[in-house]
Amino acid sequence: MKVIIAGSYQTRFGELWERSLLSLLMEAGQGAMKDAGVQASEIDLVVVGNKLGGRISEQDHLGALMADKLRVKGRGIRVEAACASGGIAVHQAVQAIKTGEAETVLVLGGEKMTDKNNGVVGAALMGAASEEERRTGLSFVGLYALMARAYMEKFGARRRDLAKVAVKNHKQASLNPKAQFPREITEEMALKAIMVAEPLGLFDCSPISDGAAGLVVRGVKTKKAGKREVEILASEIATDSLGLNERESLLEIKATKEAAGRAYVSAGVGPEEIDIMEVHDCFTIAEILALEDLGFCKKGEGFKGIDKPVNLSGGLKACGHPVGATGVKQMVELTHHLRREAGERQADKADMGLAHNVGGTGGTAVVHILKGSI
Ligand code: COA
Repeated sequence: MKVIIAGSYQTRFGELWERSLLSLLMEAGQGAMKDAGVQASEIDLVVVGNKLGGRISEQDHLGALMADKLRVKGRGIRVEAACASGGIAVHQAVQAIKTGEAETVLVLGGEKMTDKNNGVVGAALMGAASEEERRTGLSFVGLYALMARAYMEKFGARRRDLAKVAVKNHKQASLNPKAQFPREITEEMALKAIMVAEPLGLFDCSPISDGAAGLVVRGVKTKKAGKREVEILASEIATDSLGLNERESLLEIKATKEAAGRAYVSAGVGPEEIDIMEVHDCFTIAEILALEDLGFCKKGEGFKGIDKPVNLSGGLKACGHPVGATGVKQMVELTHHLRREAGERQADKADMGLAHNVGGTGGTAVVHILKGSI
């Protein structure tokens, strides 16, 4: 049996003060079902990826809530794996289809982060870190700054190399009407911007965002691929220690390497066959580490960039990072390209795509490999 993405949808990402978490998830769910041409009465299961609903919106129990509000036939569950909550939600959907528990699953990822001040949001995000890290008073910017510093010292990368990632992703976001920051920046702007945690400045960081995304995922028995059909060839997860202090190296994310290794085996392809990818660039250093850990270049060379398109959506950096939505949105973006429906930002070659979603500093990693049928 093949597992396919039959429909996809992304809400606008940004500071959406007029919107609630529920309304964003409703828009994503209705949008994905409409795109797939399926009715709520055909949905066996709703899987919702979300991290902060209880802390920021005082709303838990999102699985039952969305299954009820969307009037689906089946039931609903909510899953959480920090910033990888969306990727884990897709993985759960694939598992439910493969085990025969469901035939048609609606996957939702959503987050409403801008209703509370940065202090509250930052403390809530740090729930994804270890207790030792919380006690030090570090934030996620600080944790990734430690990784960036270790990398720069070891491999001779400069702040300008980090800035190039931000410039590229802002440029790509300028073609994405759903992006939080659809505007270009220059290297000089990035280098002169306010420092958040040395060496990471404002433009090295993904923002605080609101937004949601949805996918309809189905199991199909026929071998003949529909024109708009995108097949999920691999869905793999890996986990590691939450705290950086417990890791052997700050220069890699072991869970990414493990999930990617298994995904390549299960899809029967290697990195050279991947045309486009959406990787987890919560900070510029994270995109560089991802390129290496996913096997697109050697360790210590990711800061030089690669020839393939990376984060055509603008990435977390410029499209935005409503944490629970991100892993789902990455697959919505790849689906647009694999169906040749990405408009102005359509990749020239887009037969195979890879989505890479990370929770915390690498406590969880999720890798999906997708194949188009055009
Ligand atoms: N990239 C580019 N521009 C940004 C930005 C970002 N990440 N964050 C904010 N801005 C812009 C805003 O649009 C605003 O511009 P304006 O003055 O023209 O309207 C300006 O910078 C100030 O915005 P503000 O919301 O006051 O920023 P802030 O100082 O409160 O927050 C960060 C900036 C970087 C500290 C915050 O976005 C952050 O904490 N990011 C990391 C989130 C995180 O850890 N996620 C989990 C990852 S594991």
